[in-house]
Amino acid sequence: MALNFFLLLNILIVSLALNVGLIVKFVFVEERLKTEQSIPMADAQEKHAHITPRTHMATPPPPPPSSTAPAEPEDDGQIVVNVDHGDPTMYERFWLQMGDKTTVVIPGWQSLSYFSDARNLCWFLEPEFAEAVIRLHKLVGNAITDGRHIVVGTGSTQLIQAALYALSPDNASEPMSVVSAAPFFSSYPLIVDFLKSGLYKWEGDARDFTKEGPYIELITSPNNPDGYAREAVVRRNEGILIHDLAYYWPQYTPISSAADHELMLFTVSKSTGHAGSRIGWTLVKDREVARKMIKYIELSTIGVSKDSQIRGAKILQVVMDSYTQVGNSEKGEDFFEYGYNLMEKRWKQLRAVVKQSRLFSLPEFPLGYCNFSSRTFAPNPAFAWLKCEGEEIEDCEGFLRSHKILTRGGEHFGGSSKYVRVSMLDRERTFNLLIQRLSKIHP
Ligand SMILES: Cc1ncc(COP(=O)(O)O)c(C=O)c1O
Repeated sequence: MALNFFLLLNILIVSLALNVGLIVKFVFVEERLKTEQSIPMADAQEKHAHITPRTHMATPPPPPPSSTAPAEPEDDGQIVVNVDHGDPTMYERFWLQMGDKTTVVIPGWQSLSYFSDARNLCWFLEPEFAEAVIRLHKLVGNAITDGRHIVVGTGSTQLIQAALYALSPDNASEPMSVVSAAPFFSSYPLIVDFLKSGLYKWEGDARDFTKEGPYIELITSPNNPDGYAREAVVRRNEGILIHDLAYYWPQYTPISSAADHELMLFTVSKSTGHAGSRIGWTLVKDREVARKMIKYIELSTIGVSKDSQIRGAKILQVVMDSYTQVGNSEKGEDFFEYGYNLMEKRWKQLRAVVKQSRLFSLPEFPLGYCNFSSRTFAPNPAFAWLKCEGEEIEDCEGFLRSHKILTRGGEHFGGSSKYVRVSMLDRERTFNLLIQRLSKIHP
């Protein structure tokens, strides 16, 4: 009897354990199934939010402006604030807002040929990019395009080299002198002397240039690093001028007139912020100079990426659409207005913190009327040419580095080490950290 009772109890316990096990297993499997099903769902939503199948992104984009972005961390003084490079990431948020308007689809069968337009002198120039460039200059009014050849390049860095090649005689007894007034763009001496060319040679600050004979003067206006509008300084008959107008756009400076020089350089890097596309263009009057520049690009890269030109054309078209499609619901936010507002806000913040510090100073700029925006304003340059005023600070770059702020010292620009160049073009987070960090530096 007792045995029977124990047997029955054992059976009961085993069946209970089995049942509980089954129930647990069932619930667990159900949960797992639910979770597994929800993974592709979440993935799909993610993809929809951030990645369209046509877009490849090497770095994740910032959160969409509408989402509640996590609060920026308070500056504990330990984060390195890198404002050395002029990487134009500050426009990223604008282009994110544009969403699919700027998306370009290039099917596999397209852009196979080396040639874009074999009838054009610049045979690797995509017609739609050329058309967009002309329309944009006409809209902004910053350069004359009539009677000019357009030469496209892999960034204006390649075009500077193509121009130096084209403008230097190949039968001269000594290399052509190349100068620029200090403080000059720090890449100029490096680009000019990189290959130790027999055709041209860096001769330094244009203000100290006394050598007889022909020369090339590089004029950057507005200037990188100090933001001032510039003209030639050597002013001799044998001088050949290259005007680098990378920053002659209405978010940085008033557009006072349409530039009308022999050879003018522009780039999408600083006009729209698409530095990664590596597209620049030259407006050049002289056909022979254009031909030689084209020859240079032919021999160095056999043309310029069609994919990048097509993307560049699309970006420029979207910029223009925001001005020309009046009343259209598809019309996006004005790019130059966005850029201007952001630059103005940043310069105000920087000036306020610099004034309060009493350790630094910034250049002052005259007011100018902008024909494009019909507004009178002082330039808000892409870089701040910051001076360490304290007598004991001779090495401004080193001083800021000791506060974990990375800048580029004045010597790189042919100037004094009491100055540094600070990029104003970085993402919001970096710029805010810069302001916070500077506000904590006291005499
Ligand atoms: C004055 C100037 N010219 C040319 C360039 C090079 O531009 P890209 O990215 O088109 O090569 C820069 C970039 O900083 C610049 O500041």
